[in-house]
Amino acid sequence: MKQRVFSGARPTGKQHIGNYLGAIQNYVALQEEYDCIYCIVDVHALTSLESTDRLQEDINEMMLDWLAAGLDPQKSILFVQSHVPEVMELHTLLSMVTPLGWLLRVPTFKEKARMQPQNVNYGLVGYPVLMTADIVLYKAEVVPVGEDQLPHLELAREIARRFNSMFAPTFPEPQAKLTSFPLVLGLDGVQKMGKSYNNYIELAATSEETLERVMTAVTDPARQYRSDPGHPEICNVFSLQHFFNINRVEEIAAECRSAGIGCVDCKKLLARGINSALEPFRERRIALEAKHQLVVEVLSDGARRAQVIAKETLAEVKERMGLLQRAV
Ligand code: TRP
Repeated sequence: MKQRVFSGARPTGKQHIGNYLGAIQNYVALQEEYDCIYCIVDVHALTSLESTDRLQEDINEMMLDWLAAGLDPQKSILFVQSHVPEVMELHTLLSMVTPLGWLLRVPTFKEKARMQPQNVNYGLVGYPVLMTADIVLYKAEVVPVGEDQLPHLELAREIARRFNSMFAPTFPEPQAKLTSFPLVLGLDGVQKMGKSYNNYIELAATSEETLERVMTAVTDPARQYRSDPGHPEICNVFSLQHFFNINRVEEIAAECRSAGIGCVDCKKLLARGINSALEPFRERRIALEAKHQLVVEVLSDGARRAQVIAKETLAEVKERMGLLQRAV
């Protein structure tokens, strides 16, 4: 039997090339070897959203990107967290076996509390418990995540272990599967590419928008004049060439060092590389977008399939915790 993979991602709307290289590409590849479940975690998003006005639109756009990128509802279960409410029940039950001290020590909790001091809500403390519930509800064994999620995964294993030893062996201890991808920097060359820094290129952008965005990218700051030699090893635009112009990387580096090409030339090459790599994705996305009910159908079918597994696990958990009524 194939091992089960589970991963979740917050609904961040249209995905960018950092999401693709760091996560989506990996999700797609895992479909061939594992039994995969991928979830858009809308309830987790509520722990730090200022407004929920865009939530449904963000879920829709994100799912379109996932589908266009090759996540296949025939192979994987694709669903939205809140559509399978059993996870919230399991969250509550797991919270009873999770020492508060474990949660208060989680580095992401401390960071969130610092970043949103006006909104240190109860859900934020329970964030890793909900994440554990996501994973163990489906008895997932493998969890593809970025490095930032390792403390959460460690906690998920501890909670699973504790439940297993307090009641009966029920959950596999989930293993993190790190994406082998290096950090993708944003166009500013400083931060990780991310929605909050406005330093990203959307997968679904047009060729013109892509070129425009790439032109704003920061390059080697020491290179002020076209005739100055460049330093590709410290240049952010050059590092993106690795992903999109792999066959020409050496040539571009040499031309940059000798000032044979300027930063504008280099950016044009990069934009062209991105546009040709993403052309098939963009065509698929436009076609998918035209099918109006598609995302709704995919998500309701995904939720239905996920719920079958969820109900089974939850019944088992309740039975082990003594919550099932029986004649006395
Ligand atoms: N915490 C993850 C993040 O912020 C998202 C997430 C929620 C998740 N539940 C999960 C990831 C379960 C993996 C497995 O990126």
